[in-house]
Amino acid sequence: MKSSSILSYVHTLLRATISPGDVVIDATAGNGHDTLFLATCVGSSGFVYAFDIQSAALHATAAITENAGADIRLRLAGHQHMAEHVDAEHHGGIRAVVFNLGYLPSGDKGITTTADTTTTAVQQAIDLLAPNGVLAIVCYLHDQGRVEYDALLSVLAALPQHQATVLECRFRNQQGNPPVAFVVTKQPHTKATS
Ligand SMILES: C[S@@+](CC[C@H](N)C(=O)[O-])C[C@H]1O[C@@H](n2cnc3c(N)ncnc32)[C@H](O)[C@@H]1O
Repeated sequence: MKSSSILSYVHTLLRATISPGDVVIDATAGNGHDTLFLATCVGSSGFVYAFDIQSAALHATAAITENAGADIRLRLAGHQHMAEHVDAEHHGGIRAVVFNLGYLPSGDKGITTTADTTTTAVQQAIDLLAPNGVLAIVCYLHDQGRVEYDALLSVLAALPQHQATVLECRFRNQQGNPPVAFVVTKQPHTKATS
């Protein structure tokens, strides 16, 4: 694991969570690196839904995952509509959802995730998760990213403890504005005890 990369920590955690045959979602396919990672975790009996609003991103994802083995379902759609694009049989059975926010590297920086659509999508993602399923979100703290982070923090910090645990991971001694990750684990029981 690369100890200076928050994404690397997120992948390590996801690797420990996901088993062969699981169904998972990449909410921001981009160049397909996270989709490929998820495909290796679920193996040939698993499914990966991969969302992006740019066809160039889905082409790149298709190319990089061509021989990945898993059943990869590319969706040219905003992740704020993810519930409509995930088969009903998988609702409540998703093992993990990953958001790697921001814009397509080497693409149009104006086409980026936004606070409104991301918070809507995150709420849907939590509904789609299986009990003990994990939602991981990597946020970049440039101008627009800071707005998105603040919006996510208010939504996630307000989640009742009996529904989900919310962990925030950040490097405290890196220069500049290093990215931050949220890791949300859906609780198996929804009884309001604490
Ligand atoms: C930082 S990139 C993702 C990197 C990617 N996971 C990888 O491994 O290469 C963010 C992606 O989110 C996409 N995006 C922006 N808004 C979106 C939305 N509402 N729904 C789905 N994808 C979106 C962008 O088009 C961009 O490709």
